[in-house]
Amino acid sequence: MCLYKVLRAAVALRPGRDEIVIDTGNFPTDRFLAESVAAERGHTVRWIDADDVRAEDVAAVTGPRTAAVVLSHVDYRSAAIADLAGITRLVHDRGGLVVWDLCHSVGSVPVALDAADADFAVGCTYKFLNAGPGAPAFLYVNARHHEAFGQPITGWMGAADTFGMAEHYVPAPGIRRALSGTPPVLGMVGVQEGVALLAEAGIERVRAKAVALGRWVIDLADEWLVPLGFTVASPRDDARRGGHVTLRHPDAERLSRVLIENGVLIDFRRPDGIRVGLSPLTTGFAEVRAAMARIRELAA
Ligand SMILES: Cc1ncc(COP(=O)(O)O)c(C=O)c1O
Repeated sequence: MCLYKVLRAAVALRPGRDEIVIDTGNFPTDRFLAESVAAERGHTVRWIDADDVRAEDVAAVTGPRTAAVVLSHVDYRSAAIADLAGITRLVHDRGGLVVWDLCHSVGSVPVALDAADADFAVGCTYKFLNAGPGAPAFLYVNARHHEAFGQPITGWMGAADTFGMAEHYVPAPGIRRALSGTPPVLGMVGVQEGVALLAEAGIERVRAKAVALGRWVIDLADEWLVPLGFTVASPRDDARRGGHVTLRHPDAERLSRVLIENGVLIDFRRPDGIRVGLSPLTTGFAEVRAAMARIRELAA
């Protein structure tokens, strides 16, 4: 719902432009919503066909018709990190706005939205923020858009006078207008705790451990799994890889089922990816080694 709100708001801020840009490798929700918003507004979706979106890919499909570009900061399959600042600048130079999906970066990779002058962002809190299943999503709106930001799901919690029971909607000043109904308070308690833990550890230290865990997976994969037919699908350059590593194997789907049955809780991602999630605050190096050893044993 957060993505729908900000994407609708973004295209409304660019009247006269009728294209929404997104990559074919993006998460289904992002692609499906881009298509829904385009259909609602009579816009066209322009697709970037790349697994690892670079500024030049964005440059090739953006122009005077671009209203908004939707991209993931960290790719949910490959873990490739997009150039958030560079791509934002490029889209702004062409008059468009950018919505960043931070689902796989928040709590794992430092994100500097204000510094990059990003327009909008969304993210979830149940991954690297450790807030648990059902914890709510969040959204970000650059302060320079607050006044003009109009989101479509208008409810009493986002109204200027919540308890005024007004006849018509008047948006609250500032970011509170992003709210709709009563927030999921129990889920937010989990977010509070997850964010407090992250703040205590510090994102730079969390990032350093994420990089080391990812490197550990890649080194073990090279030694143990590549000889068994696996390939590493995530960037080998630490600076370009987020907090997970995806391994490819022709029989990944069946192998994933066997791994899960044997207590190695990876994610299968079509068509042939086994995603190893590495949450730095809770995952240790010995655990990763044990999981990789189990993958080797079961694959063999
Ligand atoms: C990049 C990305 N965007 C969006 C989502 C959807 O999140 P939710 O199910 O919380 O809406 C996910 C979930 O994994 C994701 O990885």
